[in-house]
Amino acid sequence: MRKIYRRRLYFLLLITSFLPICFLVFNTIIYRHEKNIISYIYDTQTSCLNSSKNSIIELSTIPPQYLVVPYREFALRTSIACRTFKLDNSKKDTANLHPKYSKYLRGRFPYVLPYANVTFNDIENFYTKILIKKKSKDSIIQTSFAENITFENIPYKFQNGMWYPTGVTSIQRTALLVPLQGREYNAKTFLLNMHAFLRRQQLTYTIIFIEQISPNGHRFNKGRLFNSAIHYLQKQTLNITCLILHDVDLIPEDDGNFYTCERNYPKHTTSRVRQLGSTRGYTRYYEFLIGGVLLLSFDIYKTLNGFSNLYWGWGGEDDDLALRLIQQRMCVVRPSYDLAIYIGLPHPRGQRNNARYGLLAWTTVRLGTDGYKQIEPLTRIINIHQTSTLTHLKLDVNADTNNSPSLNTITKSLKQQQQRL
Ligand code: BGC
Repeated sequence: MRKIYRRRLYFLLLITSFLPICFLVFNTIIYRHEKNIISYIYDTQTSCLNSSKNSIIELSTIPPQYLVVPYREFALRTSIACRTFKLDNSKKDTANLHPKYSKYLRGRFPYVLPYANVTFNDIENFYTKILIKKKSKDSIIQTSFAENITFENIPYKFQNGMWYPTGVTSIQRTALLVPLQGREYNAKTFLLNMHAFLRRQQLTYTIIFIEQISPNGHRFNKGRLFNSAIHYLQKQTLNITCLILHDVDLIPEDDGNFYTCERNYPKHTTSRVRQLGSTRGYTRYYEFLIGGVLLLSFDIYKTLNGFSNLYWGWGGEDDDLALRLIQQRMCVVRPSYDLAIYIGLPHPRGQRNNARYGLLAWTTVRLGTDGYKQIEPLTRIINIHQTSTLTHLKLDVNADTNNSPSLNTITKSLKQQQQRL
């Protein structure tokens, strides 16, 4: 009997000493594998600091399989940001054209939360009638849809689909692109606040809502919405030079968060977000995140082949774009954490995309064949409605192109709407 117990004891001892050794060996193998990929990404970061164009890293020296990033294991620890902006160093030669020199900047600015029954017409009237009539500068305005609004009457004119500051010329022509599906209240709050924000920076801009209409109940596909709207924009004569990809539930809180594009780098500005009504303060996201608000030129967008068209539901499409940036050896720049702050508007939680990790594993392999270049047959513009406060594109993102009205018909109807404004 005793002998049996002793044997069991030896066996147990053997197993317990063997297990930690196995664990150590296994971990070392995994760690070494990960380290290779991580150090590859960090190496490419160093080159970002010098120049995005004349990268010192030779493309041919990197085995292509290293670009397939096992996202779930470590991507959240991976940085693609190369520096933060030094806003005080803005070049003098941009003189009064840079938003920094706008005399309307107010630093932190109180956002407005309209009553639930606000309409798009209320907002339209506010910017085209109420505000224009008000002569005094910082006046408090009472409206039927919100109380004590302190918007200034900054001189602006609306022409051919864009808003222009009068008396100054902005260097960039900006399109603020906002994908959505439902979320009307967020959309109205966004619109009301964003015109004021963009005007205080004296930007030349247009706001475009890209709404997904899903006759067959498809989940939200943000990537397709962006690709399709940008494809549409390129066919117009607006000469947009700066694209701002913006979530509808985010309102910037500081005027120093300039909505201008950098020529060589995408700029990510959603560094910290505090949820409306929450006492938890600001959340700081992972370094790798480029979702929320991203500013970039059309050329960069094209280089990345835009977004993947394959992400249905919430999550992943922005991380996919971040991996495309890494693959193209591009850095993302961010304004300082003090300025890049946002209020997050409440909304129901979107349906998670559980397929996203599988898709992310193969992002870089798909870059050339899944994105902006492939968007045309996948989506259909159902309707375009333009007022002076917004252009509202309605899109079917899973379209049978045979039923599409031609782009000419749509553009013609848009011209008629513009003449009426
Ligand atoms: C998702 C992203 C999202 C981020 C922040 C990630 O897990 O994949 O799409 O932007 O969380 O909410």
